[in-house]
Amino acid sequence: MSKQGKTNKVTISTIRAMKAKGEKITMLTAYDYSTALVVDEAGIDMILIGDSLGNVMLGYDSTIPVTMDDMIHHTKAVTRASEHAMVIADMPFMSYQASQDEAITNAGRLLKEAGAHGVKLEGGREVADVVRRIVSAGIPVMGHLGLTPQSVHQLGGYKVQGKQKEAADRMREDVQILEEAGAFSVVLECVPEKLAGEITASLTIPTIGIGAGIHCDGQVLVVNDMLGMFERFTPKFVKKYANLNADMKKAISQYIEEVKSEAFPGEEHSFIS
Ligand code: KIV
Repeated sequence: MSKQGKTNKVTISTIRAMKAKGEKITMLTAYDYSTALVVDEAGIDMILIGDSLGNVMLGYDSTIPVTMDDMIHHTKAVTRASEHAMVIADMPFMSYQASQDEAITNAGRLLKEAGAHGVKLEGGREVADVVRRIVSAGIPVMGHLGLTPQSVHQLGGYKVQGKQKEAADRMREDVQILEEAGAFSVVLECVPEKLAGEITASLTIPTIGIGAGIHCDGQVLVVNDMLGMFERFTPKFVKKYANLNADMKKAISQYIEEVKSEAFPGEEHSFIS
């Protein structure tokens, strides 16, 4: 059966219904085929090809250098793997800010060339018209407010957002503007729990939190962080569900030792005669 014909495939309607029923939504990032297979088979609702791939896959110190070609390349790998999850691709820095025409073209590429089911972009009122145009082209859009890493230089660092009343009020307004512009959901990153809860209660679309507390309609984490694979920097909001970095190092050290000592390959790994 084709992926589209699958009866349990998560779609925008599934996500809307989950908010209406009060059922929590799960999202994780994935950037490659093998990881996306595992994440999808585990039953996640949504997979995000985040521009965090700039940090965890490409070794940049921010998401700013990530290009449309990077996003297309990694999104293609993930969509080849996903059977169940709704797949959302991030629009990288400067792929939607310069003009609405460019934004639609780039959002379209992520669906047409890479097979994503929707796109995510950062910002509030300043991107509302772009969101409206992309949605009117038939492309589901997820918003992203709070700590928006593409604006790290304007924000002055990776800090919790919305602590002061003025900033909190602006976020409350921005989220309404995004809903009105047609976004089907919104990520809240590094937002005080109480504010995220109030915002969640004020919306008909779901909020997906990362460092935004328990009251969001769903949660997202970077898969490399929650698996304990990426150890360069671990934000406070990450829970490590595994310690793959240590497990991988242990396995690789054992391999090195066994090759050196000729314990590997054994007969069972060799073609005898
Ligand atoms: O790029 C990313 O991984 C993200 C999540 C942190 C929400 O935007």
